[in-house]
Amino acid sequence: MAAKGIERGLTNYGDAGFSRFLRGAFMRQMGYDEQDLAKPIIGIFNTYSDLNPCHRGFKELAPAVRRGVTQAGGLPVELPTISLGETFLNPTSMLFRNLMAMDTEEMIRAHPLDAVVLMGGCDKTPPAQLMGAASAGVPAIYLAAGPMLTGDFEGQRLGACTDCRRLWGEYRGGRIDERELDGVQGQLMPTAGTCMVMGTASTMACMIEALGMMVPGGASAPAAFSDRLRCGVETGRAAVALAEKEIAPERIMTPQAFENAIRVLLAIGGSTNGVVHLTAMAGRLGIEIEQGIFDRLSEDTPMIVNLLPSGEHYMEDFHKAGGMRVVLHALKDKLHLDCLTVTGQTLGERLQEEFTHPAWQNVILPASAPLQEKGGLVVLRGNLCPDGAVLKRSAASPDLMSHKARAVVFDNLEDLALRIDADDLDVRAEDILVLRNAGPIGAPGMPESGSIPIPKKLAREGVKDMVRISDARMSGTAFGTIVLHISPEAALGGNLALVHSGDMIELNVPERRLELLVDEATLETRCQAWSKPEDATARGYLRLHLEQVQQAHLGCDLDFLRPPTHTRLA
Ligand code: FES
Repeated sequence: MAAKGIERGLTNYGDAGFSRFLRGAFMRQMGYDEQDLAKPIIGIFNTYSDLNPCHRGFKELAPAVRRGVTQAGGLPVELPTISLGETFLNPTSMLFRNLMAMDTEEMIRAHPLDAVVLMGGCDKTPPAQLMGAASAGVPAIYLAAGPMLTGDFEGQRLGACTDCRRLWGEYRGGRIDERELDGVQGQLMPTAGTCMVMGTASTMACMIEALGMMVPGGASAPAAFSDRLRCGVETGRAAVALAEKEIAPERIMTPQAFENAIRVLLAIGGSTNGVVHLTAMAGRLGIEIEQGIFDRLSEDTPMIVNLLPSGEHYMEDFHKAGGMRVVLHALKDKLHLDCLTVTGQTLGERLQEEFTHPAWQNVILPASAPLQEKGGLVVLRGNLCPDGAVLKRSAASPDLMSHKARAVVFDNLEDLALRIDADDLDVRAEDILVLRNAGPIGAPGMPESGSIPIPKKLAREGVKDMVRISDARMSGTAFGTIVLHISPEAALGGNLALVHSGDMIELNVPERRLELLVDEATLETRCQAWSKPEDATARGYLRLHLEQVQQAHLGCDLDFLRPPTHTRLA
């Protein structure tokens, strides 16, 4: 029988009896006795950090989890790991997602833990923690921080960070002044919790509930609500049951469960980052998600959630409307219902209850009367993106879905910062803005710079959207006609590296095409003149990242951390 609890993975002194004795002595130092040590040990991975404001509520939430673990007969132990506060990391939090996944995996595996509760929430933390847990193979359950409540400024309801971007755009365009900008800055994030639109954090939380790795209702309860604390207690209790049944993540995160999560991503109008993260999470279990599946399922998955940035409401409204329970019921006939969840129930058993769609609200619509007939994301192909690119259709301008225009190219982020607001920039409203060298290797870390700002001189004229393309990502809270994740990226010599300002580019969303309209001979000549950028000074983790990171269509994981593929979702 495999060792459990305090007997698991003894420290190697060459004498197992001594290792057990010594470990027991140090546990006694913590005030535990044999009665405690006979219990299943539940690790609570608490990613509180003074530089991760989205996790501000963890000081109150972690004790709730401990209470649940204790109630169910487990021994709670709290551990730290790396925490990633989205706006505090340079050059971008995405560079460190895989580092956090490695930290999580190794700390789960190295410690005597029978199950773990993963407390996360801010954008990169949920995928990092679940990637690590998937690789470690120990029973795991996810607990999100929960979204913030909205703020108000002079009668205007505000939320992070769609309104941050919108109001900054208004300021750039001269439509609001310094006083108003200062006023809204204090109200955009009024409580603890994650961004309260359908950005990356909310998208990940909804997908993780659909995957079965979270207790029911865990995706949406606001951080400031008592619902969130009760969710913490329930999560603690569920973790003990998971440990007793020894249900490893691979039994829950199956190919069918990932397909359910993709359905939800499309139905909620979720973040494009969800594509990258879900692909990376599945990859840790030998499941390859081919990008075409997002497009295929998009065709018969209605978009039913009316939240910013694609719609008009916020996460607290989504929660009050019934949250993921309503979404899952609406999609029930499209989901794999035999998938196991962390509660020990299958998804089908969870949805067996009597249910009537709550007609009193317009935040989550029935599948029969959706916000849009088709899902929010499309995958593009063409000579600019032979391995794919992603566009969030639900947040784009309908009149730009078929658009042919000349390119205005920015060679990298520094070039963009230098020239985008220059009065002499040769740009017109109908042009296509191109940013390159902002991919997984190029930037490095594929920052969320794909929502290229509208050049100031056009913003002043009232231009709100343009076609923008890049090998970068974009914040889930952003909006516009923005093509992202171009693969292969420019730093690998993809055609994106060969575009010149003045070239014609065609975006054709109905036909799923993105083409650089330059003849092959010219491209070949430009290719001969191109050389791969190298960073000879890279050291430590950055060096590992540059040597190992995969392209966006594979999820940007480190190559050596992915096992061989056994199942393809296409
Ligand atoms: Fe943390 Fe948005 S910055 S979720």
